[in-house]
Amino acid sequence: MFNKRVKIKDLLATEPSGQEVTVMGWVKGFRQNQFIALNDGSTNNNLQVVVELGTQDEAILKRLTTSASVKVTGELVASLGKGQKVEVKAKTLEILGDSDAEAYPIQPKKHSLEFLREKAHLRFRTNTFGSVFRIRHTLAYAIHKFFNDKGFVYLHTPIITASDAEGAGEMFRVTTLPLDNPPRNEDGSVDYREDFFGKSTNLTVSGQLEGELGATAFGEIYTFGPTFRAENSNTARHLAEFWMIEPEMAFCDLEDNMNLAEEFIHYVIKYALEHNREDIEFLAQRLAEEEKSLPQDKRSEMGLMEKLEFVVNNKFERITYTEAIDILLQSPAYKKKKFQYEVKWGVDMQSEHERYLVEKHFKKPVIVTNYPKDIKSFYMRLNDDGKTVAAMDILAPGIGEIVGGSQREERLDKLVERMEQMHVPVEELSWYLDTRRYGTVPHAGFGLGFERLVLFVTGMTNIRDVIAFPRTPKNAEF
Ligand code: 4AD
Ligand code: MG
Repeated sequence: MFNKRVKIKDLLATEPSGQEVTVMGWVKGFRQNQFIALNDGSTNNNLQVVVELGTQDEAILKRLTTSASVKVTGELVASLGKGQKVEVKAKTLEILGDSDAEAYPIQPKKHSLEFLREKAHLRFRTNTFGSVFRIRHTLAYAIHKFFNDKGFVYLHTPIITASDAEGAGEMFRVTTLPLDNPPRNEDGSVDYREDFFGKSTNLTVSGQLEGELGATAFGEIYTFGPTFRAENSNTARHLAEFWMIEPEMAFCDLEDNMNLAEEFIHYVIKYALEHNREDIEFLAQRLAEEEKSLPQDKRSEMGLMEKLEFVVNNKFERITYTEAIDILLQSPAYKKKKFQYEVKWGVDMQSEHERYLVEKHFKKPVIVTNYPKDIKSFYMRLNDDGKTVAAMDILAPGIGEIVGGSQREERLDKLVERMEQMHVPVEELSWYLDTRRYGTVPHAGFGLGFERLVLFVTGMTNIRDVIAFPRTPKNAEF
């Protein structure tokens, strides 16, 4: 029977009155043959379990090594020691699983994040990753709560798909054909009619196109699922497998879209601040320690907690792409030739440009709208100037792009024209165009990269440290 177990987080908040409790967890430390620091993953704070001299078998005490799992039943009493309000006086002590302290890969000392990435199967047991993944959980919950409370329908869009939603061609192929000898057409190309689905299929890069089908029936939907991109980007911001949240709203224009995105980001960060304060404080402390070794000009101006409070209490800046380019052209960084990549109207902004805007110029999140049509996807609504589209990207300090979205092109003729110009197969996407044929409506949506949000809230700096088992070029461990 394990169901009598009390979680350490709850126990630490309980008034002690000598009541009998049962706790289970992993040993973090054992000192003076008397004090066990026990952790069960519900909080970074350990429970002190006191073993009174002579009450337990010596052989059992010897097995209280780092990461051994134990079951303790005892009395909850006020603690005399510093650092905790309560402790448990052990009555019975049972080892559930031994742990060879010498061989245990994570020694009780400070390890680098790089080292822990190689031990990703055990890193959840460290304080840093304990905090990161509890916050990740809370954010996921807050996202569902936010949309549910607004009446959005959670739509599960497919993971295997035959269409390239972003038209970027960076997809992982899904096939059961033999790689070494696939069936071929007369011209030598692979004959996908023989493949599992009878056509060429891939892992999805976005659920948006299917999301639009949902929005034009339910009014408002959102997706929240795994997303795959086979781009060879080995940066601290890119994963080959990540999670994306994509709301899609009928009867919605670019302005409504921006308002929703801003409200949404404020809401989920506020939710984490309310429900994970202890974990965020822990990570704030960690970040401050880490930054002590950096030169003054490389340190953050605000601590993590301050930064998050600032973001939820202030409106995002809103500028057009054209204004953004002008700011960059006027900047001291540009004049001193500090940018590596070209700045001129029409280019896709590089992360150095985005970071200049949010970190140096505005010092807060910025929504950039109305990008040149040639650097954006086919489905974005063409503006009256004929040159720009009703796109919006949200840029966040320390992260760069965190959201990409737009108002969609709801006019059938304009959409088809755009698809033809951009060589998007009109026939294959006939199902998508049906939304424009049968009761088309102005609609809009966006995609938020979940891991980039988690990076922002935890203050971690590498995206590999905010997803349980990162998939990146040349890496699919565990
Ligand atoms: O800007 P993206 O490519 O937009 C779309 O896919 C649209 N269909 C979304 C929509 O309008 N429904 O991607 C959206 C977000 C980015 O802003 C970024 O936060 C994240 O997804 N993202 C990645 N996150 C981690 N690793 C990658 N390789 C990412 N690529 C995009
Ligand atoms: Mg984008």
